[in-house]
Amino acid sequence: MTGDDRTEKDRQLDAARVDQRGSFLTTDQGIPVDDTDNSLKAGERGPTLMEDFHFREKITHFDHERIPERVVHARGAGAYGFFEPYDDSLASLTRAEFLSTPGLRTPVFVRFSTVAGSRGSSDTVRDVRGFATKFYTRQGNFDLVGNNMPVFFIQDAVKFPDFVHAVKPEPHNEIPQASSAHDTLWDFVQLQPETTHMMMWLMSDRALPRSFRMMQGFGVHTFRLVDAGGRGTFVKFHWKPKLGTHSLVWDETQKVAGKDPDFNRRDLWEAIEGGAFPEYELGLQLVPEEDEHAFDFDLLDATKIIPEEQVPVRPVGRLVLNRNPDNFFAETEQIAFHLANVVPGIDFTNDPLLQGRLFSYLDTQLIRLGGPNFPQIPVNRPIAEVHDHHRDGYHQMLINKGRAAYHPNSLDGGMPEPAGEAAYTHYQERVDGHKIRKRSESFGDHYGQATLFWNSMADWEREHIIAAFRFELGKVDARHIREGVVHNLNEVDHDLAVSVAEGIGVDAPGQPLTANHGRSSPALSMDHEPADTV
Ligand code: HEM
Repeated sequence: MTGDDRTEKDRQLDAARVDQRGSFLTTDQGIPVDDTDNSLKAGERGPTLMEDFHFREKITHFDHERIPERVVHARGAGAYGFFEPYDDSLASLTRAEFLSTPGLRTPVFVRFSTVAGSRGSSDTVRDVRGFATKFYTRQGNFDLVGNNMPVFFIQDAVKFPDFVHAVKPEPHNEIPQASSAHDTLWDFVQLQPETTHMMMWLMSDRALPRSFRMMQGFGVHTFRLVDAGGRGTFVKFHWKPKLGTHSLVWDETQKVAGKDPDFNRRDLWEAIEGGAFPEYELGLQLVPEEDEHAFDFDLLDATKIIPEEQVPVRPVGRLVLNRNPDNFFAETEQIAFHLANVVPGIDFTNDPLLQGRLFSYLDTQLIRLGGPNFPQIPVNRPIAEVHDHHRDGYHQMLINKGRAAYHPNSLDGGMPEPAGEAAYTHYQERVDGHKIRKRSESFGDHYGQATLFWNSMADWEREHIIAAFRFELGKVDARHIREGVVHNLNEVDHDLAVSVAEGIGVDAPGQPLTANHGRSSPALSMDHEPADTV
């Protein structure tokens, strides 16, 4: 990156950067140290002395170096860059100026991740990939916390702990690490048919990205853009890589995992070091509020896409990643994305998966990053000014001046006051209803879009999907689980179910209960951009 490309975020980070090259060694208190190879002893061969403060400090710091890894998406790689909108055409739909101010380069940090494996697991496993972007906008931080697949496994966040417990290694022996081939995952899948559409994506080559530079990203949920007058427009966010979408094949992933477990992270790092900056186009699917019920699925259901035939993706800007972090832990590990980080002009919907995420991320970060002051960590700090009445807590790094940390107060003239017109205002959606614990019937079709996905696949893509089901299910011990999955697949496509059944030693199913949705595939264009296998 040249000096001219430095963003406001880069300049802000300068204050936290430390370059110790050429310096002499000190303790954390700044006391020069003459020997860090030998502890202080009573005699050459005597016991180490408690008073050796350098020894104690060095060991104590080391003993406390680890923080909990993320409960999901533990393994990741990240980079800085910028986002730039193409024009001002979104100005009439949203107050978010980073989306509609031509020439405005908003600094970003993007973290790509796998989901199930631990921090030290391999890159090229069959898994969903996270694609999380923090936009450091002048109106505050906006986090687009997405995945490389446009749908999700479950419809309601209350199922997330169940789902993740099923996906993660089994609790008695912690096997298998980062693999979809085990009984608990497939047990959950067969008992929870809402997973079917996402499982089709997971068994496809989309789950084996060749490179983070060649991977799509999706916000998954339906969000809202809100204009200056308070009018809302539903929106789905899409990232499209300039290099195209490319996958590895299964056999390659196995070999690569052995030879270079850091394959994807190394590729990202080296591309950026070499000046081949990864680039992605942001596209939006926009649906006017009045069309909320115009589809044969519910916009609030995260197991559904909006077919691009019905709502095309409108390109609105580009994202360029052009700088590697200086320190993996300080930046990639300590970055904290949160769906609730929205700026004026972007709002939520009542998608029950989205709503639950609004609680979960902050909650987990309070323990992962040690208390409520993690927004002060350099990588998390907004470039927008921060003024609040929050005080104290572990790791408080700021020295707030003045007497009064409450509102209203009549003592400190300069205390932060509500922001007026610049403030975030929530979309004024009318809400009423009975308190009920029930899934909406509009979320009821679990197979239609899975069939649409299957119908949009080329023959070789179908072969890969069948092979994946056979491999993964072939490792499932419990026969009734294998049968249960085949039963669900039969509702997607009869031939698919028969092919999978043949490969995993269970009886081929009869014709499905419901006529296979078998819409003779107006192929989804999003799906149809083939995941080229290189
Ligand atoms: C982490 C995406 C659903 C809880 C992440 C990350 C991504 C992501 C990309 C990694 C962020 C990073 O790089 O630091 C998604 C998507 C979802 C989804 C696209 C569905 C559409 C959920 C749900 C919950 C949840 C339903 C809980 C109710 C978490 C937690 C973390 C996480 C606790 C770890 C955060 C941290 O420790 O910083 N998710 N997620 N996610 N997600 Fe989700």
